[in-house]
Amino acid sequence: NNSFDEDCDYLFKAVLIGYSAVGKSNLLSRFAKDEFCLDSKPTIGVEFAYRSIRVGDKIIKAQIWDTAGQERFRAITSSYYRGALGALVVYDITRRPTFESLRKWLKELREFGSPEMVVVLVGNKSDLGQSREVNLEDGQSLAQLEQVSFMETSAKENLNVEEAFLQMITRIY
Ligand code: GTP
Ligand code: MG
Repeated sequence: NNSFDEDCDYLFKAVLIGYSAVGKSNLLSRFAKDEFCLDSKPTIGVEFAYRSIRVGDKIIKAQIWDTAGQERFRAITSSYYRGALGALVVYDITRRPTFESLRKWLKELREFGSPEMVVVLVGNKSDLGQSREVNLEDGQSLAQLEQVSFMETSAKENLNVEEAFLQMITRIY
């Protein structure tokens, strides 16, 4: 099996999903490289990044997959989800339609993902509170309804990004 890697105790796969331009790629670059880009391009196909984290006395290496929110740029759905133990489902708190589209993303996750997958709902761009279209409570109640964790983040200001990924990673182990 692929859960062993020479420089870590566990290796696992997690995926990012959500509408285009909600900030998936920037959440990942913030978490993996502590980088943020204000004019990043839409993702085409699939990209990966790794980050190793110490949990207790174990080194866990997360391989995080990032794909396009735009349908026409997406890779094959079943292979994207295959073997994933965790998912961050992301929306943009300043664009209501990205929150409304979560129903579709969660449905896809149920269809293609493993039932044991650890899911964290993420409302990104919390630094843009003045243009907020989705209340904190809306995110919280959807998460409660779907029985998943929830967090608002800002990839730009580096708020809660680490926490969102770590919540997923530590619940996997
Ligand atoms: P696709 O690859 O098309 O699915 O988009 P994406 O979800 O990967 O979005 P991406 O990370 O490329 O970010 C889209 C835009 O939002 C970029 O201009 C980012 O700079 C911006 N952005 C991402 N996260 C934040 C954030 O936390 N705050 C603010 N203000 N802007 C952000
Ligand atoms: Mg992207």
